[in-house]
Amino acid sequence: MLARAQALEAQGRKVVHLEIGEPDFDTPAYIRKAAAEALEAGFTHYGPSAGLPEFRRLIAEQWSRERGIPCDADNVVVTPGAKPIMFFAMLALLEEGDELLYPNPGFPIYESVGNFLNARTVPLVLSEQNGFDLDLRELETKITARTRMLVLNSPHNPSGAVMKPETVEAVAALARKHDFWILADEIYARILYEGRHLSIASLPGMAERTIVLDGFSKTYAMTGWRLGFGIMEKGPVTPPWRAARTRCGRWSRSSASAATSSSRASTSCRASPASSRRAPSTPSRTSPAPASRAPSSRS
Ligand SMILES: Cc1ncc(COP(=O)(O)O)c(C=O)c1O
Repeated sequence: MLARAQALEAQGRKVVHLEIGEPDFDTPAYIRKAAAEALEAGFTHYGPSAGLPEFRRLIAEQWSRERGIPCDADNVVVTPGAKPIMFFAMLALLEEGDELLYPNPGFPIYESVGNFLNARTVPLVLSEQNGFDLDLRELETKITARTRMLVLNSPHNPSGAVMKPETVEAVAALARKHDFWILADEIYARILYEGRHLSIASLPGMAERTIVLDGFSKTYAMTGWRLGFGIMEKGPVTPPWRAARTRCGRWSRSSASAATSSSRASTSCRASPASSRRAPSTPSRTSPAPASRAPSSRS
């Protein structure tokens, strides 16, 4: 859609952009300066796949301080933009036939990645009458034994709605009770005009079953830089993620975007044994949080 709009603009047409979350300001000068200096200083070579350790440490410190998410550098994975976190998390956790609950209207990639993985995609209707908040009664009727993941997006694209704290707490209780994962898309969390953002990962028993998706595209107007990250449990997601990377060769930006744009495309990755993608230590109501995520380990 953006490409079509840009093509019209190239022909001299005036277009009002409602199609993508592009901030209406430029990347701040101090960030551009730091990047230019880093390039001049030779930071142009391969780095560790999960991101520079110092950068991951800074993210963990800031996000545990600001959002109360219990994490350290090992829980942070830096990616080219935030979108790969959606793709990798679902690739690691969803099996064919697993149910993925997602907000509708919502960011379209949640549904398309679910479809790509042959998960059952189950929309949760956000209505204007309910302030575009999740309808908890509808959610309860849609949870089944196959529910594996629920996507939360607050502040929400496209409505701008912020989930009420009591809704976030109720969703957390349902996730613990029915034992499913949360993909918490918090990319707009710092674009909040009133109140405080409540991260579901900060609630008791939630860090080990939540993948927080965030990045720098929106807050710092860095959409073209492609810089995002996820905060997640060390065990369940990262080993199958690594396995997926090994099986499919190097996951590149283009492979992820090709996957997300073709809803039921078949690739060699889809042929890989399902069991190797499923996390060995699925969160369970009885298993305590690993020590690495216990509040005492907060930095
Ligand atoms: C709700 C939501 N999540 C994630 C993203 C992806 O962010 P990025 O451009 O860093 O991949 C967007 C971008 O528009 C978005 O609106």
